[in-house]
Amino acid sequence: MTARSSLQKATDTVLNALSLQDNSAPDILSTLETEHDEVQDLLSKLVQSDNGREQKALVGKIKAALIPHAKAEEKVVYDAVLALKGVPAKVDGNEGYIEHGLASQTLTKLSALTANTPEFKATAKVLKELLDHHIKEEERNIWPRVKENFSDERRIQMNREFLAAKKRVKVS
Ligand SMILES: [Fe+2]
Ligand SMILES: [Fe+2]
Repeated sequence: MTARSSLQKATDTVLNALSLQDNSAPDILSTLETEHDEVQDLLSKLVQSDNGREQKALVGKIKAALIPHAKAEEKVVYDAVLALKGVPAKVDGNEGYIEHGLASQTLTKLSALTANTPEFKATAKVLKELLDHHIKEEERNIWPRVKENFSDERRIQMNREFLAAKKRVKVS
């Protein structure tokens, strides 16, 4: 192989690697980050609102964003982390499942309450605190495990699986 063709080959390899990072093939972690930001933004608006109609609309939006995210995350991310060797990874995976359960219960309770009452506002605050904590831990504990244990290609594949799993979730 000439120096020129091996340089071309190296260039192709780099370009291929870069093309895997482009927007047409996102890493699962970038999708999760975007969705976390969206939910946290809706939660901030919810706790700041003093308008019952707006609060109800925001609860609907939070439900529609959060439930498919959480279910698909369990299937594609948590189950992969739970399958890793070692107790700490399994603790993180279980903790995630438990927190999703608590968030889902709190969201169900919030949906049943009359908007703009002290109980509604308190429940909305608890939901926000719970999810702020959950998202912070997920990004700090789960994501480094995903980065460390799954290749760039695998994380792109996980992203496809995540988007497909989300579509199968029904929000009532
Ligand atoms: Fe998440
Ligand atoms: Fe989560």
